[in-house]
Order: sequence, then C-alpha cells, then structure tokens
Amino acid sequence: MHLNHPDITKVLVTADQISVRVAELAAELDEYYADKDPLLVGVLKGAVPFMADLSRAMELSTTQDWMAVSSYGSGTISSGVVRILKDLDTDLDGRHVLIVEDIIDSGLTLSWLTSNLATRGAASVEVVTLLRKPDAAKVKIDVRWVGFDIPSDFVVGYGLDYNERYRSLDGVGVLAPSVYS
Ligand code: XMP
Ligand code: MG
Repeated sequence: MHLNHPDITKVLVTADQISVRVAELAAELDEYYADKDPLLVGVLKGAVPFMADLSRAMELSTTQDWMAVSSYGSGTISSGVVRILKDLDTDLDGRHVLIVEDIIDSGLTLSWLTSNLATRGAASVEVVTLLRKPDAAKVKIDVRWVGFDIPSDFVVGYGLDYNERYRSLDGVGVLAPSVYS
C-alpha cells in the first residue's frame, strides 16, 4: 500500500529512504557480525518488514527467530507492562543475539527485552531499530544501530499499525488524528 493515502497527514520516511538506510545498516551488520554467526530476533508483529528487508540485504548467513510481547494493547499509550505472548524457539546459550525492533518510544519494552534475553546465556545482545522517538533518550539502553530518529507523533506503516491497520504501507507516516479520535 502506498504511503500516499488519505489517512496519512505527514510523510516521515519514504520507501526509497528506507531501502537506502536498510542497505547501509546491513553493510554495518555484515562487518560487525562477520565471525559471530548472529541470531536475529524479530519482535512481532511490527518488525516483520524490517527483519525481512534487513536480513535479505545482509550478505552474512543468519538464523532468525521471533518473539511476541505486548506493551501497548490496542491503543497508542505505552502501559509499561510487558508480557511474553510468544517466546523464542532457539536456545540462546553462547549466541550473539541481535534484537530487530520496529520502533523505540519510551524504551520500556526494549529495556525489559534486552535484560530478559541477557539472562538466557547469550554471548551478546545488541539492538537494531528502524525508528527511534525522542523519549527513548530517557531510558539507559544501548541501541547500537538506528535507522531514523523521528518526532514523537504516533506513526504507522512499514510494519507499524493502528489497531492492526496500515502495517502494509510501504513507508512511515503520521496518522491523521481524526482516525483515532
Ligand atoms: P516503548 O514505549 O516500550 O514502545 O519503547 C515500543 C513498542 O510500542 C509500539 N509503538 C508504536 N507503534 N506507532 C506504532 O504503531 C507508534 O508510533 C509507536 N510507538 C511505539 C511498538 O510496538 C514498539 O515495539
Ligand atoms: Mg504495535
């Protein structure tokens, strides 16, 4: 679905900008993980397009697994309560884990997730996120790779949803407030 859509009031990142940035990130990851056999852990469902594009842009062979956690419910405000809805199938012992996230807002989800995965014996836990909002600076988490820093508006597209809609938009934009008010 094209980002040029009546429910999108502002375009933040176009499909072309995403593919250029994904290629840059993939090259950095190829170098960083050259001798580490990384396990990419995607956070469902928002990270699906990013994980698919990023892993295919990498030349390294990777293994991939998925986790589903809930932090937002169906609304637009972070609850701070993180629950595992679907856990990994992979044993993390000795693995170099790269968490692949769609967006970091308050950072609550990610700080919980990184410490959870670190307790499972991983050799390393790093994070790559496509998007980061300004509030993320308030939480002390080391995010090694960031695609784009964006304003704190609620955004949709490229995996990000509002009530499960708009995930298939090819870029990222701000949803018209009239849609959710
Ligand atoms: P926190 O606040 O814990 O939030 O860093 C991370 C998770 O919240 C969701 N999130 C969004 N989803 N548009 C969305 O569709 C947004 O603007 C947005 N901000 C945060 C997302 O699931 C992310 O993993
Ligand atoms: Mg979501």
